[in-house]
Amino acid sequence: MFTDFDQQMMRRALELAALGRYTTQPNPRVGCVVARDGRIVGEGWHRKSGEWHAEPLALNAAGEAARGSTVYVTLEPHCYHSRTPPCTDALIRAGVRRVVCAVLDPNPQVHGAGVEQLRAAGVQVDCGLLEADAHELNAGFEKRMLTGLPRVIVKIAASLDGRVALANGESRWITGAAARADVHRLRAECGAVLTGIATVMADDPQLTVRDATLDTLGRQPLRVVLDTHARMSPAARMLREPGETLVFTADVQAQAAMALAAAGVTVLLVASSGRLDLRAILVELGRRQCNDVLVEAGPTLAGSFIDAGLVDELIVYIAPTVLGAQARPMLQLSALHDLSAAPRFRLQQVIQVGDDLKLRYTPLRNPS
Ligand SMILES: NC(=O)c1ccc[n+]([C@@H]2O[C@H](COP(=O)([O-])OP(=O)(O)OC[C@H]3O[C@@H](n4cnc5c(N)ncnc54)[C@H](OP(=O)(O)O)[C@@H]3O)[C@@H](O)[C@H]2O)c1
Repeated sequence: MFTDFDQQMMRRALELAALGRYTTQPNPRVGCVVARDGRIVGEGWHRKSGEWHAEPLALNAAGEAARGSTVYVTLEPHCYHSRTPPCTDALIRAGVRRVVCAVLDPNPQVHGAGVEQLRAAGVQVDCGLLEADAHELNAGFEKRMLTGLPRVIVKIAASLDGRVALANGESRWITGAAARADVHRLRAECGAVLTGIATVMADDPQLTVRDATLDTLGRQPLRVVLDTHARMSPAARMLREPGETLVFTADVQAQAAMALAAAGVTVLLVASSGRLDLRAILVELGRRQCNDVLVEAGPTLAGSFIDAGLVDELIVYIAPTVLGAQARPMLQLSALHDLSAAPRFRLQQVIQVGDDLKLRYTPLRNPS
């Protein structure tokens, strides 16, 4: 069904989509190419929520050449009035002959209906070209559309012997400058960066994207702190940074919680049975349209996410240093009595970043 030319055009559309990596949230990253007579006559990509979608931009660039063309788009064109008019209408009006899309839109308001509208208007539609790449580009958006929950990425910086901080709490910096710059890119891709109160108290982190070379349109990810007893200081460094900070607590009435609210923090009550309910927190972050949440916490909270089976991706940066048995281990997990019950992961990627290694894993789920 797909020719080499089709493949080439969809690769280009995926490249265009990736230009929106740091800016389209909460919307998906989408790219579009209009081709006629074996050459590209228009290109477009979605930059930001509320701005034009990739298809009308590419059609506009093509002008009259769009008539009779083939349009390559990384996501099924949307077919309802949102903040912008339906892309299906624009394609039909432009008189395109064929639309090739990589994946259907997981958004239930569109899923399959965009394709149907185009076919009903006599446009040939072929789906599924380079779909694995298109899914990967919007993994967080797809998960949120399908489940209401954001994708959870747990990031850990560790020594060769799997330690993440000295016994006295010092952890800055275990990894090198290149790995830290990589983390800033990761943050910029995410809707929220989440940590535990113990890390805030130990490190007073900013949790911001600080990389002038990234075009983030000035957006900072939402900062999220899990703080059962509202121990966070209103003088915490992150509260002086641009962007919003959200503190989940079990006690919104506490004097300290009110002081945080007065300092501009959004303080939210969440159920707790000793530990705050992580699933309820993710539901709230999904409701706030976070597609991807980056967990940058210490061993306690990172371990809780793994114990709860709520991790979609684990990223471990390994530095060429050893910290010894007195130092803090990578994860605090509930006790295991049977090796077969240990959480297991599939290695997806290994890359060298400066002097460190970056390992990307996805969890192997139990069939239950
Ligand atoms: N190398 C790295 O990648 C890295 C990254 C971050 C931090 N660190 C280091 O890690 C150390 C802090 O680690 P940590 O383990 O003590 O702290 P943490 O994991 O950052 O925070 C844990 C705290 O979060 C709160 N919390 C609320 N709900 C929770 C839940 N459902 N599950 C777990 N915790 C929950 C608890 O305090 P309340 O009960 O008071 O709410 C808990 O004690 C610091 O030394 C820091 O420098 C290293």
